[in-house]
Amino acid sequence: MSDLAELAMTRINALAQVSEDTGRLTRTFASPAMRRANELVGSWMREAGMAVRVDGIGNLIGHYPAAQTDGKILLLGSHLDTVRDAGKFDGALGVLIAIAGVQRLGENKARLPFAIEVVGFADEEGVRYQTACLGSRALAGTFNAADLKRTDARGLTMAEAIREFGGSPDALASAKVDPGRLLGHAEVHIEQGPVLEQKNLAVGVVTTIAGQSRARVSFAGCAGHAGTVPMNLRRDALCAAAEFVLVAEALAQNRGGLVATVGEIAAWPGASNVIPGEARLSLDVRHPDDPVRRRAGAELKRRAEEIAAERGVQVRWELVHETPAVVCDRRLTAVLNEAVKRRQKASPLLASGAGHDAAAMAAVAPVAMLFVRCKGGISHHPDESVTSEDVHVAIQVMSDFIAEMAKSA
Ligand code: GLV
Ligand code: MN
Ligand code: MN
Repeated sequence: MSDLAELAMTRINALAQVSEDTGRLTRTFASPAMRRANELVGSWMREAGMAVRVDGIGNLIGHYPAAQTDGKILLLGSHLDTVRDAGKFDGALGVLIAIAGVQRLGENKARLPFAIEVVGFADEEGVRYQTACLGSRALAGTFNAADLKRTDARGLTMAEAIREFGGSPDALASAKVDPGRLLGHAEVHIEQGPVLEQKNLAVGVVTTIAGQSRARVSFAGCAGHAGTVPMNLRRDALCAAAEFVLVAEALAQNRGGLVATVGEIAAWPGASNVIPGEARLSLDVRHPDDPVRRRAGAELKRRAEEIAAERGVQVRWELVHETPAVVCDRRLTAVLNEAVKRRQKASPLLASGAGHDAAAMAAVAPVAMLFVRCKGGISHHPDESVTSEDVHVAIQVMSDFIAEMAKSA
């Protein structure tokens, strides 16, 4: 199985070359790079003995048949999209480990009482349209059709992007899986935090996935001459946005467990001698406890309105993404926990602050997640690093998990 770990690492390195940017890894939803990634990963799925299809939103799905045709389905996998200037393991690792698990079954000519479907989800990060988990929400049947009208930075609607990609925005309902056929979804992912490294353990089991809210906030003031408009007569949209960024930081710093991030900001018209007339920013707020997160979101909206009023500018607040916290399935998690205990001295239970496709899939299936140690807990950064020894352990654990599921199916 260490050969499979080496193979998974080689594939991760090859996939990291598939990018829409030169010199850094960026693969956003429905981009030409995503199409190339689907082709490459699809070829590995075929090698592992799976039949491959791409659904209407662009999810790549490899099907490994059950012993009997009417068998249920166990979903494995994670996402193939990335953030900008990404590390190579976030998402991809979960897809490649799932393929390795199936490859092992294929090599042993094993057929199980259920089919396995490995999914490379089309979008988890939400970089292009801010609203996240588009792929898993389409599969779960919770995709919001109104989101098809959202525009990206180039003004292209999501419907147009899906069509350009070769998908079918008008038939996304057909991407929905039949929940009655699902045994569950088990996702492997890098931890994106430091706990496993501190405990000197390769893998751990996830108990909960934090909820998140994302908003697009726009301040509109008045553009003008940087040399002639006195400071007291300005309605500078970027100054309002800047004040809001620090208010969000201070609010999160003073509330245990809350995190608030402004990851994108842009000003118009964008010239060194012009007062910014408009500023737009993204806001991402998370907390393990949904009411605390929602209260913080409402408070920040109120503060944005106060800042705008004080500065004589307008503010527009658009909630673009909201997901509740999710508790992983008790039975599936117990099976995973036992599988971990067979392969290492302890099975730590971890809470996830990051969002995952499993959280969206929880709407229609029991979900479980396995985290793999990553160096320094670094993620959403090109320095993401995972060892092939830990990948080896994760493949062993997932193989044991699948075998145990087969025994009880
Ligand atoms: C995904 O990585 C997220 O939690 O933003
Ligand atoms: Mn991820
Ligand atoms: Mn991510």
